[in-house]
Amino acid sequence: MNHKPIDPIVLVGAAKDFWHTHEVKSYHIPSIHMNDGPHGVRGTNSSAIIATKNKTATCFPTSSALASSWNPDLIYQIGKAIGKEAKAHGIHALLGPGINLKRTPLGGRNFEYYSEDPCLTAECASSFVKGIQINGVAACLKHFILNEQEIERMTINCMVDEKTLFQTYLWPFREVIRKAHPWMVMASYNQVNGDKVSESTYLLTEVLRQQLQFDGVIVSDWGAVENPVEALKAGLDFDMPYMGEYQTETIQKALQNGDLDHEVLEARYKRVKDFSNKLDFSNSQGVNYDQHYELAYQAAVQSIVLLKNDKQLLPLNETTERIGIIGDFFRNPRIQGAGSSKVTPYKQITPEMALRKDYSHIQYSYLNPTQDDLKDDTYVQEIQAFAKNYKTLILFAGLEEMIESEGIDRHTIRLSSYYNQLINIVYEANQDVIIILNNGTAVSFDKMKQVNSMIEAWLPGEAMGEALWAIVFGRENPSGKLSETFPISDLDLPMGPRFKMNETDVVYSEGVLTGYKYYDYLNKPVHFEFGFGLSYSEFKLDNYQLIKKDKRYEISLQITNVSSRKGMEVIQLYMGLDQPSQIYPMKELKRFIKIEVKPNQSRRVAFTVDSADFESYNTNLKDYVVVPGIFNLYIGTSSRRIHFTSQVESIYDEMSIRKTLLGLRENSLCKDFYYYPLTREPFMESFSYLKEEGVFDIILDMPLNLIARLFPDLISKECMDGFLKKVGGLKKQHIKNK
Ligand code: BGC
Repeated sequence: MNHKPIDPIVLVGAAKDFWHTHEVKSYHIPSIHMNDGPHGVRGTNSSAIIATKNKTATCFPTSSALASSWNPDLIYQIGKAIGKEAKAHGIHALLGPGINLKRTPLGGRNFEYYSEDPCLTAECASSFVKGIQINGVAACLKHFILNEQEIERMTINCMVDEKTLFQTYLWPFREVIRKAHPWMVMASYNQVNGDKVSESTYLLTEVLRQQLQFDGVIVSDWGAVENPVEALKAGLDFDMPYMGEYQTETIQKALQNGDLDHEVLEARYKRVKDFSNKLDFSNSQGVNYDQHYELAYQAAVQSIVLLKNDKQLLPLNETTERIGIIGDFFRNPRIQGAGSSKVTPYKQITPEMALRKDYSHIQYSYLNPTQDDLKDDTYVQEIQAFAKNYKTLILFAGLEEMIESEGIDRHTIRLSSYYNQLINIVYEANQDVIIILNNGTAVSFDKMKQVNSMIEAWLPGEAMGEALWAIVFGRENPSGKLSETFPISDLDLPMGPRFKMNETDVVYSEGVLTGYKYYDYLNKPVHFEFGFGLSYSEFKLDNYQLIKKDKRYEISLQITNVSSRKGMEVIQLYMGLDQPSQIYPMKELKRFIKIEVKPNQSRRVAFTVDSADFESYNTNLKDYVVVPGIFNLYIGTSSRRIHFTSQVESIYDEMSIRKTLLGLRENSLCKDFYYYPLTREPFMESFSYLKEEGVFDIILDMPLNLIARLFPDLISKECMDGFLKKVGGLKKQHIKNK
């Protein structure tokens, strides 16, 4: 037994139990309470993986739903409300938002992530973080990094190339760090290219702190650290949760035997101290849960996506006298996902409760066939007779809770055979059936193409019932747009129906082509594209204008509501390099705006595109720099419904000039100098004679200093020195303050 007292600095940031850190009086650092999660306060004391009986809190739509609202202002309000509730529960750090991207709909935890797109993810998460932190409660970006699947999530090795890592998966972290300054990041369980994330100096210190300039604290995912000393050295601050005395004892021992420098602990002390100074430890005021229910209702309304309305059966008329309803989710809906994000809702209004309460004049009959019923011909006939009997027929379908959950991935994008069969049987009898989907991520089913009315309700939180009927009966106008692509079949998925490549590794083989970027690149048909969603209103887009002003492009257009119903549309701006020399997305989301337009009203929508929008991670220059060339600019109402296209040339502001010049070295490729507008002229002045020699195009792909060494007859020392001097001059001119 070790009776020696633990050095207090060892206890700074050390876990006391499942959710708290130690208070360290001598350093004036209070105990910090961390708790889940992204869709509402989990507020549990339990250490169970899935504790469902917690303190009550507002259960908001899950992130995949919220992102479908395309409304960062609304998400800010939700962050603010959750932060307030967290404070009321005595929580100082809220473990969310989750900003991993969706490589495929098979990810079991997709419901907890915003989107397949880094830009949409970053916009939603930035608002959420700002909302949480305004309360003096820390938001925690998770899970850093490459935790895109649940299968073997604690051990899996994710193999990824540098471009994909920085361009796609680190992008949202970078953006949220820049825009919202989160105080905390959670290091994930997995490995990246053989490096355990929670113990990786490269990922935690070099990438996260130095390259992405994160200045907060890093907490491990629960149990992600194997070697506490290595984790500390790598830059981790909180090794959560408490898993026995060995965590602090190992550190103490390492300190004593010289394996760990005191400076490492002091650096951690400084970070934890700065962090705790930001937190509000005061008692909070009361929470108005009814007001938060209203917010949850608004959020659900704006998140729900109208996918099909071919025969304009929706909205239903409130004078409808009788409705036939089929499916368990009517009575037992899924309002949230399973796992650590699970909230015990303050109140929950199911679709059945809401129909009874708000539409009491409507008669409805309800059928909930079991799996066995579908095997019984007589019962199948009864279902069909029921389906035929109702002109207005609604079928609830979706994913059962244990099909999508933290800790498990899906095996197929298809709905279960039960729901496929049920839909087939009902559709055969009544082709006007309205399908309501209740799931956290994209699904597909046999009759998806054929059905003519369909709503994606997602996992829409505690106000699901009221929000859903408000959309169905037209009290509210749908305005949600898909935050992810709905592919047709498993074989369409970038990696097919499986994540793993072998026993130990997942390979990010689709590279930067995540989600719609992959389907667009291969020109693949999909059920519903990213950014798609219908409205009961009809909008017209015209009067498009593009102006170049100094170092930016100003784009504007007019949207007119040509229907008699007030509605909201999401205008989306995508960009893509016209003639890329490498695999490059045809289009990437860069800007979007959700706008409300009254009947017959016209409004002008404007976007500004600047230098940063032309940036991409450059593996030569090791930085995000402007890509030189011509870009296509697309404006549309989804990633495939493009109304206007123009071409623009990339622009450089001073910052991007500096970054590019910093990255250019003697051993850079000749084409890096040639394509970069600022060095192009000096390059041509020095080397245009190589055109006559007929080798100009060949040398472009070679390192400048190597050609000079290898072919001194082609490039003389004087010529080379002359060119480098000119580049040096440019560097002096632009990087003087660095
Ligand atoms: C999850 C985290 C969560 C933590 C604490 C882990 O298993 O991956 O997202 O915050 O548990 O519940």
